[in-house]
Formats: sequence, structure tokens, C-alpha cells
Amino acid sequence: MAFDSKKQREIMGKFATGVTVASTVVDGEKWGMTANAVTSLSLEPPLILLAVGSDSQSHTMFRTAGCFALNILGADQEHLSNRFASPGPREFEDLRMTVAETGAPIMLDAIGWLDCKVVEILPGGDHDIFIGEIQAGDCQDGDPLLYFSGGYRRIAPKD
Ligand SMILES: Cc1cc2nc3c(=O)[nH]c(=O)nc-3n(C[C@H](O)[C@H](O)[C@H](O)COP(=O)(O)O)c2cc1C
Repeated sequence: MAFDSKKQREIMGKFATGVTVASTVVDGEKWGMTANAVTSLSLEPPLILLAVGSDSQSHTMFRTAGCFALNILGADQEHLSNRFASPGPREFEDLRMTVAETGAPIMLDAIGWLDCKVVEILPGGDHDIFIGEIQAGDCQDGDPLLYFSGGYRRIAPKD
């Protein structure tokens, strides 16, 4: 019998992560999706991976664009995580933005960003794995937003 998906979520919820907004642009329309199924994959060549739900609108947007940026959210950007995890049109108007090499939108107030060209899309059950080759990126000081056990957290100093 297949392992219980609720239990998988519960267990993997103990694996605390940061939170990103993966962003792209198609025909001038900016798009963003909150994502924590993200990891650094290779340094040479510089690759990262992003798992995207196969049936999501985001999947169509990232595949069509052939590029995406990862914007790493800061501790005070929980509202952006919620915004870009909601279905429907994505709102960027109130955000300080710039455009990366690939054309993907970058959030200037994120604590870090990576601009990626999609080099491979691999199947992974009900998600696909988008492998991005890093074209550009930068970061700045600031505490991260964390996701743990289905909720948001902040880092605390370890005494
Ligand atoms: C903290 C958090 C992390 C998420 N991580 C991912 C992810 O890595 N991959 C993914 O496909 N969806 C992820 N989601 C869900 C998507 O953000 C959301 O379902 C998606 O924007 C809606 O699908 P749509 O593209 O059809 O609008 C996450 C949601 C939250 C709140």
C-alpha cells in the first residue's frame, strides 16, 4: 500500500526550509509561485532544482517561459508567501522589482535571488523537477522566513 500522503507531509514538515517565490514572465505577464521544494543541485555546472506540481498553472508558465528566478523571502515577507501560494492572477504592483538576464522578474527586497534558465524537466510523480542553470544572482543581509510543520517561523539565536 502506498505510504500515507498526510503522514509524508507531517514528517517532511519537520524538515524546516526557507521560502522562495519562483517567478517568471510569459508574454509580458509576470508570474510567481511560492516554493520550498528547492535545493542547490550542482556547483559545476551551477544548477538548482525546483519541484512544481504537474497540474498547476505555474508549471505551464515556467515551462513556456523556459526560465525562472528564485526569490528567497525575508522574515517579514510572510504576506508574499501567502500571496503567491493563492490561485488566480498574481499581483506585483506594490513590489520593488527589476528584471534579470533571462527576463525573469526579481524582487529587490528578497534576501537573495537566482536567475535560472530551464535546462531539463524531469518527471517526479505528481510534480516535475525543473532543473535551472544559474545565470546570475545576488544576496543581501536579512533574516529568512522559515517554514516548519505547516507554519511560518523565524530563526532564533542558539544561545
Ligand atoms: C510554504 C509553501 C511552499 C510551497 N512549495 C511549493 C513547491 O515547492 N512546489 C509547488 O509546486 N507548490 C508549492 N506550494 C504551493 C504553491 O505555491 C501553490 O499551490 C500554487 O501557487 C498554486 O498553483 P497554481 O500554479 O495552479 O496557481 C507551496 C506553498 C506554500 C505555502
